[in-house]
Amino acid sequence: MFSLRRTNVQVVLVKVLYSRASGTSSRLRAMIWTILLIVQGILILFILVSKRSRSEKEPPLDKGVIPWLGHALEFGRDASKFLTRMKVKHGDIFTVRVAGRYVTVLLDPSSYDAVIEDSVSLDFTRYAQVLMDRIFSLRLPHHNPAVEKAMMKQHFEGESLSCLSSTMHCHLQSLLLQACHNQTDWNTDGLFSFCYSLLFRAGYLTHFEGEQKSNRTDPIAVYAEYRKFDNLLTKMARTMLKPEEKRTAHSVRVRLWDLLAPAGLGKGSGSSTWLRCYRHLLQEEGADEETQRRALLLQLWATQGNVGPAAFWLLGFLLTNPEAMRAVKKEFSKISGQDSAQCPLLDRLQHTPVFDSALEETLRLSAAPFITREVVQAKTLHMADGQEYKLRSGDRVCLFPFISPQMDPEIHQEPQRFKYDRFLNQEGSVKKDFFKGGRRLKYYTMPWGAGTNGCVGKRFAISSIRQFVYLVLSHLELELCDPEAQMPEVNSSRYGFGMLQPEGDLAIRYKPRRSH
Ligand code: HEM
Repeated sequence: MFSLRRTNVQVVLVKVLYSRASGTSSRLRAMIWTILLIVQGILILFILVSKRSRSEKEPPLDKGVIPWLGHALEFGRDASKFLTRMKVKHGDIFTVRVAGRYVTVLLDPSSYDAVIEDSVSLDFTRYAQVLMDRIFSLRLPHHNPAVEKAMMKQHFEGESLSCLSSTMHCHLQSLLLQACHNQTDWNTDGLFSFCYSLLFRAGYLTHFEGEQKSNRTDPIAVYAEYRKFDNLLTKMARTMLKPEEKRTAHSVRVRLWDLLAPAGLGKGSGSSTWLRCYRHLLQEEGADEETQRRALLLQLWATQGNVGPAAFWLLGFLLTNPEAMRAVKKEFSKISGQDSAQCPLLDRLQHTPVFDSALEETLRLSAAPFITREVVQAKTLHMADGQEYKLRSGDRVCLFPFISPQMDPEIHQEPQRFKYDRFLNQEGSVKKDFFKGGRRLKYYTMPWGAGTNGCVGKRFAISSIRQFVYLVLSHLELELCDPEAQMPEVNSSRYGFGMLQPEGDLAIRYKPRRSH
């Protein structure tokens, strides 16, 4: 082996000498010099980047031991654990190096508005565009996020909401009936797949297929492909796909683009009005057909990626906390006992304080988005405690409400425990008073993000999950296969990407209730 290598080196040297002798020496020397200069340039850049030190009035700086990468690996493996460790070490604000970038992490909810409300020094779109490119291979030409947001609001809020909710209700009901059609015996499944599959398909039919019955793309096929895509999403965002996964990600994306191709093109009831308007907006912005399909996958993810997992955590917590299940069922049974002639079901489902508290508590424990901004001009960040910190242009700022307020023991006692009535006052009204350091908090839980970039689908999402849980509990007998089973662990790679997902699943069995 050694002698073989030596022989190769000798061959190369002979070639170099030969090329010199043959008069190409100046070209070769130029080439070697160019390579040396490039290597030197990279080295200087590398040293400059890694030489950064903390300046006066800047947050504590933690670069990690690995050059350039910094804390990237630990961050990606379990962001919650890593940031909790940094918080213990540095406090509520610190800057970490992650894959060549410097990210200032802020974990004091009383100071969040200093970031959320600043759209001059801090920019939302740049980092969003990086992710759009990495995950969806999407670059939108002449994109105007404010116009898009206004259009989304028009379709997901106000009067459109009740129309959307009733379409969703019809789809949920018929999918549930299909799931246990002609069935008298127990059906077993994993709770996560059960919830995700049903809610995804109902949501897909509502938003992407309108009311058309024929020629529709099979929602089961879209769901199957989407789940493969979803499983690779965090690695795509971190550009950490292995070669084989890269190929899978590409082919799954292509299949989803094809499946989504007809969406939003149908006339009248053939397509949801939101999607037709969205297509129209993209066309006005100059997006070609290919780009439009890619943008549809982005919207599929934004509208369907969180509701199923949220319903899973909620039903899981109810099934493993009998007292909470009894309280929610009691509230629902009062609703089903009311006269439907006087008030339609969806209107009666508007007033459910016990359910709402259980959902809020679920989201506190399982919604973990990052709120990220790029610093586009140097800024002094004023903290609620009077401290001031300088932020450098080109860095990123990241809020992680999952650590605080959501899991902060100073704000929520026993934060790891599911307490269905945590967001209820004693007399049953909604509890909104939570404190940290004697200060009443504006942000005591933040599953929906906040400010102009908060979730536009919030009310629709709540309505969908409420309907789903109501229908499941009233139409099905639903049990854990193992009555002693506990909730599965969290898939720790998903911190930062909206709703968390479980590692594994929770085995359930179900059959139709006899009265239905
Ligand atoms: C439990 C369910 C859901 C959760 C926890 C959730 C959470 C969020 C969060 C945290 C954001 C902000 C992302 C960011 O700052 O980058 C967001 C954005 C968004 N959500 Fe939701 N969401 C849910 C369901 C839905 C549903 C059902 C829809 C629509 C039908 C929807 C539509 C959107 C859209 C369009 C945006 C982007 C807003 C923008 O670009 O500014 N979401 N969501």
